Amino acid sequence: MKEKLEAMKAQALAELATVGTEKEVQDLRVKYLGKKGELTGLMKGMGSLSPEERPLIGQLVNSVKDTLEEKVEAALAAMRDSDKQERLRIERLDISLPGRRKAIGTLHPLTIVIQEISEIFSSLGFQTAEGPEIELDYYNFEALNLPKDHPARDMQDTFYVSENVLLRTHTSPVQIRTMLKHAPPVRIIAPGKVYRRDSDVTHSPMFHQIEGLMVDKNINFGDLKGILTIFINQYFGSGTSVRFRPSFFPFTEPSAEVDIACVICKGKGCRVCKNTGWLEILGSGMVDPEVFRHVKYDSESVTGFAFGMGIERIAMLKYGINDLRLFYENDLRFLSQF
Ligand code: PHE
Repeated sequence: MKEKLEAMKAQALAELATVGTEKEVQDLRVKYLGKKGELTGLMKGMGSLSPEERPLIGQLVNSVKDTLEEKVEAALAAMRDSDKQERLRIERLDISLPGRRKAIGTLHPLTIVIQEISEIFSSLGFQTAEGPEIELDYYNFEALNLPKDHPARDMQDTFYVSENVLLRTHTSPVQIRTMLKHAPPVRIIAPGKVYRRDSDVTHSPMFHQIEGLMVDKNINFGDLKGILTIFINQYFGSGTSVRFRPSFFPFTEPSAEVDIACVICKGKGCRVCKNTGWLEILGSGMVDPEVFRHVKYDSESVTGFAFGMGIERIAMLKYGINDLRLFYENDLRFLSQF
């Protein structure tokens, strides 16, 4: 009996050493340790043992059983562990692949130009003001010394919403709104959209302007020239030639249009400056006393100057853009260059 037990134990351990899968180990356990297994079979023979032998063999049976149980458990544990290692190896994430970056947007060129110009004027003490795009006739025309029958109203083909409501044709109404709200001194710029019934290769029915207004005691034409020359030199480069040309606006007197030496040909004459060597970039002038009367400023004690410029034109000159429509098409191939 003892020999049989030892032989069975050796046999079971030898088989255990050769199995490869969890199922085979489980089968082995059933074969030797199960209810109908070999060990149970051997124990049936215990009845024929002498009373002295029985406890010794009983002990041996238990020890063989314990040993086999232990080895089977150990084999299962080892298998599960190597299964886990294998899964970890197969399922490991490859974190060396770079992520897909989100494309970051860029500022629209018109926004960039507005910011750059605002920064220069901000350094000269000008604050930014705003006004509505849907405007009253009064602020857009009347208070700017353009009464209803004034011929200069035809200069700006207006979109009317109703008789007295329109889309502002320039940023100048912000001058009026600012002066009605604040007592002098005033030093503002006002960027924004303006609208005119005009649409061809060089005109868009919506475009952008920046207005400027400075009112204080003793402001004269020299201040206008000085501030605008500083701005032009900072924005287009120091040494840029500037020319002030007499002009007319109903809300300024005297008035001047301002030209700079052509940024393309440096004044030699080219297609962009139509061979004049000069580029017109803004309108300006000393605020007309009639405008001050409308906002109840005393033109005996304060004077001022104002100017207005088209932003698209400045952006085209600065970046060498030759087609106005590019600003509004929102083609990323164009926009992402800025
Ligand atoms: N508002 C004028 C225009 O749109 C420009 C301008 C502004 C001229 C202020 C003089 C003073 O053409």
